[in-house]
Amino acid sequence: MTWPHNCVQPTELLANHTSFRIGGAAEWYAEPQGLDELLVLLREAQRHGVPVSVVGGGTNLLVADRGVRGLVISLRRGRAFRMVEVLSHEDEPQAQIRCGSAVYTQQLVTLGGCHGWGGVDALAGLPGQIGGAIVMNAQQIGQFVERIRLVSLAGAVHEFTRDQLQFAYRYTRMEPGILIDAILRFERADPQATLARIQRVLHRRNATQEVTLPSAGCAFKNPPGISAGRLIDQAGLKGTRIGDARISLRHANFIVNLGRATCDDVLSLMDYVQRRVSRSVGILLEPEVRLLGERW
Ligand code: EPU
Repeated sequence: MTWPHNCVQPTELLANHTSFRIGGAAEWYAEPQGLDELLVLLREAQRHGVPVSVVGGGTNLLVADRGVRGLVISLRRGRAFRMVEVLSHEDEPQAQIRCGSAVYTQQLVTLGGCHGWGGVDALAGLPGQIGGAIVMNAQQIGQFVERIRLVSLAGAVHEFTRDQLQFAYRYTRMEPGILIDAILRFERADPQATLARIQRVLHRRNATQEVTLPSAGCAFKNPPGISAGRLIDQAGLKGTRIGDARISLRHANFIVNLGRATCDDVLSLMDYVQRRVSRSVGILLEPEVRLLGERW
C-alpha cells in the first residue's frame, strides 16, 4: 500500500515508544506534522480498511510482542499538538489554557506552577502526555477539562464540552477517535504555594513509587476504597518474577521490566497476581494498563 504522505513508514519498533520498553513492531507508523496531515492519513486508512491506533506518551501501554497490525499514529512531531496557549488574561479569576494532546503533562505542571494554576499540583509526577491523561482521567484531570477536540476515525473534527464527557475513576467516556487538544481551566492560586505543593507531591511519589526501572505505572486499578498495591503486598507478592517481569520491591502495584521482559511475561505475571489476590481476599483486580496489539 502507498500512503499519500511521506510521514508514514513501514515497521517501527514500539518498544521504543513505551515506558515499559516492551512491544513488537507496528505494521505502519506515522508522525503527522499537523491536523491536515492527520486527517488525510485517517481518511486513507479508512478507505483501505487499515486499522488505526494511537500511541501517546506510551506510559500506560503494554504492546504485544507480535506487534500491531495496521497504522499506529503518534502526534509527538506535530507543532500544533505540542502547543500550550494561555487564552485568559492575567486579571481574570480563572486561567484558561488550550493544550495540545502531545504536550507532556509535566510541561503543563511546570508552567502551571510558575503561573499559579491552582490544583495543577495534583498532576505532578504524572508521566506521559495530556491526551493519554485525559483519556484515562489520570489523577482526576477531568476536573480541569472544559472541552476537548477529537478527530473521528473517519477523519472529521468534533468538539465535546465537559457535560458531554463522563469522567470516572481512570475512565472518560468519549467517542472513538484521536484527541487532539483540550481547553483546561484552573482557579488562580499563589505560584509559590503551587510550586511548593508540586515539590511535595514529587517527593512523595519518588519516595513510594518505582521511578528508576521501566514500568507502565500502576498495573491494576484500585478496587473501590482499597489500594491494589496494598492487596498485592499483603498477598506477599513483592519481588515475584516471571521471566524479566517482576513485581516492584518498592510498590507492589508496579510491574518492572528488568531488561528483557516480554509482553507475555508481564501478562503471565498479571494473571498470577489476579489469581493470588482473588484467592486470598476474593477480589478480582482489574488491569489499568491498556493492551495494544496482536495477542488480543
Ligand atoms: N501500599 C502498601 N504496599 C505497597 C504499595 C502501597 O501497603 O506496595 C499502601 C501504602 O502504604 C498506602 C496505600 O497502600 O497506605 C496507598 O498507596 P499509594 O499512596 O501509593 O497509592 P495507590 O492507591 O497505590 C494511587 C494511584 C497512583 C497514584 C497514587 C498517588 C491507582 C491504581 N494508583 O496509588 O497512580 O500515583 O495513588 O496519587 O489509582 C498509576 O495510575 O499509574 C499510578 C501510579
